[in-house]
Amino acid sequence: KEIRYTEQYRPQYHFSPDSAWMNDPNGMVYYDGEYHLFYQYYPDSTVWGPMHWGHAVSTDLVHWQHLPIALYPDSLGYIFSGSAVVDWKNTSGLGTQENPPLIAIYTYHNALIAEAGGVDVESQAIAYSIDKGRSWIKYEGNPVIPNDGNRDFRDPNVFWNEDIQKWNLVLSAHDHVQIYSSDNLKEWKYESDFGVDAGGHGGVWECPDLFPLKVDDTDEAKWVLIVNINPGGPNGGSATQYFTGEFDGRKFNADTKETKWLDWGHDNYAGVTWADVPKEDGRRIFMGWMSNWDYAQVVPTKKWRSAMTLPRVLSLVKKKDEFMVRSTPVEEINKIINTETVISNQVKSISDEAVLNTNGINLNQSHLVFDFELGDSIPHEFGIILENNLNEQIKFSYVDSTKQFQFDRTQSGNLSFSEKFAHISTAPYQTGSTLNLEIFIDAASMEIFVDNGDLVMTEIFFCTQPFSKLKIFSNGQAISMTHSQLAEIKSIW
Ligand code: FRU
Repeated sequence: KEIRYTEQYRPQYHFSPDSAWMNDPNGMVYYDGEYHLFYQYYPDSTVWGPMHWGHAVSTDLVHWQHLPIALYPDSLGYIFSGSAVVDWKNTSGLGTQENPPLIAIYTYHNALIAEAGGVDVESQAIAYSIDKGRSWIKYEGNPVIPNDGNRDFRDPNVFWNEDIQKWNLVLSAHDHVQIYSSDNLKEWKYESDFGVDAGGHGGVWECPDLFPLKVDDTDEAKWVLIVNINPGGPNGGSATQYFTGEFDGRKFNADTKETKWLDWGHDNYAGVTWADVPKEDGRRIFMGWMSNWDYAQVVPTKKWRSAMTLPRVLSLVKKKDEFMVRSTPVEEINKIINTETVISNQVKSISDEAVLNTNGINLNQSHLVFDFELGDSIPHEFGIILENNLNEQIKFSYVDSTKQFQFDRTQSGNLSFSEKFAHISTAPYQTGSTLNLEIFIDAASMEIFVDNGDLVMTEIFFCTQPFSKLKIFSNGQAISMTHSQLAEIKSIW
């Protein structure tokens, strides 16, 4: 169905549901030329409710086609978050060798038990599809992992582990993750847990993901464990932490117990990665929910609530003996950057403030790239400001006294819906001789990739009029901007 969204605050090139409430991305799997995206969905309202799995597919991670709801709640409970895999060898027996089944692994959340104060609220279940994900049959032997005594016991993430020739599953159990193994996706053996004494514990652990990544420019591989946490994020509310380490199919050993953050902004939560991306492609592709439980249910959109982040490629780099996950937007996005609208500026020394020539391009769907040269002394603060005719603005800057980036949405227009929204997020940054920023703006969101994705901030905001002005500012002394490139994003519809 061809649609062009016209509602206020509606993103154009980020995935959002046509109508109603959405939270976590679920069951991302690639099969037969299609990237599947399922998501936590409540079709009857714009606030959270009995969860379904909504469904969309894409052949290029940019254009999404909405499909009918894949999984409806039933007598065992709501359909909470989870994953999906292609059962290539038909280990489950739910398809055939010739037509391997897609298997979705999700959590049943029994609201009646929850309301009665019971513990065994959540359990893990599977469903299968033998028609490219178009229809789903719930397995009659559900649940496949009954509740183990943890009230929070959810978000199973499954993958085929080549090393042990078995399936592994990682799920979150309140303040830790649990790891399981299986030969057939139906019978699961508990192996170990991780996390009681590691990472952040300012909230509940949710939506884990575990996968190997090759360290850039080496032959070394490491395992990465993503664990979402809510609340307890570095800037309040929901956020995504990760660990690097070793995994032998049974136990995960972290290199360090310290938390690292995948994204320092307020608005990237519950993200996990695609299963079964072909080996020839080799990418580990991530997508998160572009909101925060602190205010997700009251943001001022009417017909729908929430959007996803851009799909991002995760890679692993080693810096001073430490492993870091880097995120960059998938290259498919480049094809919707309208090269005819590009405005390039060369070296410019900016003191105080400079309004950039945007030549009338639509800043509200745009791609901005900036390169700065940082000398021995750095301005007190420098950065960019986007503004509209009502002087509502967002500001992204580096502040030298605190050695932090700041994303300031405290003047961004519509703020009254939540006390927690008008907040400045910060991210620690060690300056080098240059600074590169790549920024995607889509109506009410901004994704900032610093130095090729070493640091990421994802933020949403609700300016009541479109942006009309882009400024670079520098306080204290001049900043040298060696290059800037501004372009519009093409309509994808
Ligand atoms: C994360 C989460 C998951 C749960 C789902 C319910 O945002 O709380 O842990 O499965 O949302 O919608």
